[in-house]
Amino acid sequence: MTTTDLEGLTALVTGGASGIGLAVASLLAERGARVAVLDLDPASLKEPLRGFTADVSDDTSVRAAVDAAAAVLGGIDILVNNAGIGAIGSIEDNPDEQWHRVLDVNLLGVVRATRAALPYLRRSAHASVVNLGSIVTTTGLPQRALYSASKGAVLSLTLAMAADHVREGIRVNCVNPGTVDTPWVGRLLEAAPDPAAERAALSARQPIGRLITAEEVAAAIVYLASPAAASVTGTALAVDGGMAGL
Ligand code: NAI
Repeated sequence: MTTTDLEGLTALVTGGASGIGLAVASLLAERGARVAVLDLDPASLKEPLRGFTADVSDDTSVRAAVDAAAAVLGGIDILVNNAGIGAIGSIEDNPDEQWHRVLDVNLLGVVRATRAALPYLRRSAHASVVNLGSIVTTTGLPQRALYSASKGAVLSLTLAMAADHVREGIRVNCVNPGTVDTPWVGRLLEAAPDPAAERAALSARQPIGRLITAEEVAAAIVYLASPAAASVTGTALAVDGGMAGL
């Protein structure tokens, strides 16, 4: 199997009830995979996506949801660690509790979901993990100190996990999106004094002159997760409209 056809494979997407995660789960299903979503609130998901309630900051709930999803799907070949939360400010603006909370979700959430999925991934002939990094892993942006630190750690963790599990046949990669038009960014725009001006500024920040779509990020994730990327591990793929490189 060397294509992006995912017929017969199984996939679990964390945070897959909204935005990028929902686009990934939908594309994985479209390509033929059986797909489960782990989310705080999976109630809005539609067939054929199957929802499992869990909080990636709670190890017990993650283990229960991963085991339940694997039982329903018949295993896990693909894990997409997408659940994440934001934080705005410099290091003077975020109190320690907020640092602990964001790292607990964005970094430890990846550790917990992957740890719980590893027994299933080890049994797969096409095992792959894709983590959500961000443009901030390689580019310094103002007012994103905590968020950047959490995602930079995800990039380093991706490389370490790729090295640890390559001989077990498990690939681990990362996608670094620029600013993506999702409900998350919608909430940020709504909170801005002038949402239209803020959207224009975010669009202008990216050399392609617009926001990235969730579907564009999903296409990159699904490529990395698919047998077409069988020789790709320990890498970060930017989907950022040229922001990091130009
Ligand atoms: P979103 O807010 O639209 O969706 C996030 C989903 O994750 C929601 O369904 C939410 O319920 C779930 N979630 C949040 N905390 C959770 C937890 N503790 N346990 C389980 N599920 C949880 O966000 P969006 O924009 O789709 O972002 C998804 C990922 O992509 C995040 O990791 C984010 O950091 C990353 N990203 C987003 C960018 C953007 O511009 N939207 C840019 C770069 C990276």
